[in-house]
Amino acid sequence: MSTGQGNIPDDVIEAVLARSDIVDTVSKYVHLTKQGKYMKGLCPFHSEKTPSFTVTPERQIFYCYGCGKGGNAIKFRMEIEGFSFPEAVKIMAEENDIALPEGQGFSVIPRNPEKERLYEAHELTAKLYHFLLKNTEHGKEAIAYLRARGMHDKIIDQFQIGFAPDRWDTLVQFLSKRNYDLKEMEKGGLLSARHESDGFIDKFRGRIMFPIHDRNGRVIAFAGRILGEGQPKYLNSPESLLFNKSRTLYNLHQAKTSIRKLRQIILCEGYGDVISSWEAGFHNVVATMGTSLTEQQVAIMKSMAEEVVITYDGDKAGLAAAMKVIPMLEGAGLRVRISVMGDGLDPDDYFRKYGADRFRHIIESAVSTTKFKLIYLKKHHILLEEGKISYAKEALPIIAVLNSSTEREVYLRELSSELGLSYESLKQDCNLLRQSMQKKMSSGDNKEKRWNTGRHKKGQISTPTLLPAYHAAERRLLSLMLQDSEAARYVSDKLGEAFNIDDHAAIAAYLYAYYAQDKPPDISRFISSLHDDRLEKTVSSISMMDTPTDWNVQVLDDCIREVLKYPRQKQIDQKKEEMMKAERSGDFMRAAQIASEIIALERQ
Ligand code: UTP
Ligand code: MN
Repeated sequence: MSTGQGNIPDDVIEAVLARSDIVDTVSKYVHLTKQGKYMKGLCPFHSEKTPSFTVTPERQIFYCYGCGKGGNAIKFRMEIEGFSFPEAVKIMAEENDIALPEGQGFSVIPRNPEKERLYEAHELTAKLYHFLLKNTEHGKEAIAYLRARGMHDKIIDQFQIGFAPDRWDTLVQFLSKRNYDLKEMEKGGLLSARHESDGFIDKFRGRIMFPIHDRNGRVIAFAGRILGEGQPKYLNSPESLLFNKSRTLYNLHQAKTSIRKLRQIILCEGYGDVISSWEAGFHNVVATMGTSLTEQQVAIMKSMAEEVVITYDGDKAGLAAAMKVIPMLEGAGLRVRISVMGDGLDPDDYFRKYGADRFRHIIESAVSTTKFKLIYLKKHHILLEEGKISYAKEALPIIAVLNSSTEREVYLRELSSELGLSYESLKQDCNLLRQSMQKKMSSGDNKEKRWNTGRHKKGQISTPTLLPAYHAAERRLLSLMLQDSEAARYVSDKLGEAFNIDDHAAIAAYLYAYYAQDKPPDISRFISSLHDDRLEKTVSSISMMDTPTDWNVQVLDDCIREVLKYPRQKQIDQKKEEMMKAERSGDFMRAAQIASEIIALERQ
């Protein structure tokens, strides 16, 4: 029997859950302290100062009151490591010595033969190009170029750098000898279709090849740099079955261990920047590969680290790009610092010009986002008399939003000495600005992101305490049903799926199906049958309620009545409104008719 997700047998999922205790799983990433029946800690998925992340050993689930993430041990690994469901199950099975079904490796991962062939072809192609660079005549010029850029063999091997000869059919020959379907290889981005006649040619010719790996270290694409000048400088693989650029970070497969250990990421723009940073000893370095940072990339980073050090080019475009990513990263709850290269150099240039020590120093002395914004602003205002004032005008709001008065003072003093303006007058302007900003804040816009800005009030968590009666009743019912199949059967007979909230109705339906397979109540197991992020969160949230396990029919009936009452109540309220409207417009006949309808409804 298998659930909706690929062809993962239920018994594998269940064995994985049985052996992966939620407390052990979470403790590897979060420091938990015991608090009665629960364990609490700081949520790894959003930034917070007081713990709202909760683990319940008894129910084998986690739930965060702050950000609403929740689920079982498999879900936790998916969230924290960025695994897909099959990936998480496979890895957790291996860790726990759970025998995987015989056959082609592991049938848990839904196999797509075309995808597998493409992985294989990419792997072989990377090896071929690497070999050609290092061992053949073809690679001579490229090797010389790389040497001139200061790259030695160890780094060339580490990044599996290669060379695609300036010929039409090196790869075509190589792949057809191995019986690959060339059409398929073209679709996968390794070859190009010939324009006029049938047939295929190599996509990459006369280029230095940088393989791009997924987070598990499989080659999924290439970037080919032209030797010397020319356009495009880098030719990249197109999006394919394997390669989704917006979800890929260059070098993540090699950087992830260091990232997890340091909880910090060094983020660059280019391939050379990553390689130089690595060489300088920073192994937690990844790159966006030139395009602007995407939300998916931010989410990946957030799942692995707390801080990002932006290490972009020191030119105008690089600074502007940094300004753009700061709010994205901070919005996700990541701490951000920026290392400023200066001289318009990119990190790679800087490394080669000034050496490893100065490069390390620049990264280690990365500045706060406030400091960076001020530097950025200053570059925009020439420091003439009127330039000074306009710089000060734009700088003050950046400083005024800081909550720490010490921090404000530090920046104001810097500004004062830079501009030759008095500290006192700057401070006064800053305070005035703060007052007017605070007024705006309390007048109501800007309410949402509150928990993310560090202004989160203690104990102010989104516990569903003041829910409408029908909503609370539905949660209560589901909570009891999750713990007891008898309760579920009773509700199934009396209420079925007539929950008012769609997600609750869906959970009930899944739960009826789950029990119909004669499975025992087990919240963590049930969650793994859902495969829907929102439903998983809702079940986790409901399961965190302190509902007593013993129940009686009376309790269920009360809740069911509350649930059924709601649609009728809604109807009655609607009618009352209509009645009032009718009265106001003088249509008393109609008003009287509606009144009798209301009475009938209320009697039911
Ligand atoms: P840059 O133009 O800054 O190149 O683009 P670079 O990394 O410094 O390259 P070198 O040092 O001259 O070899 C930054 C990144 O933008 C992407 C690449 O990922 C590059 O590393 N890019 C740039 C492309 O994808 N295509 C291009 O044509 C240019
Ligand atoms: Mn460069």
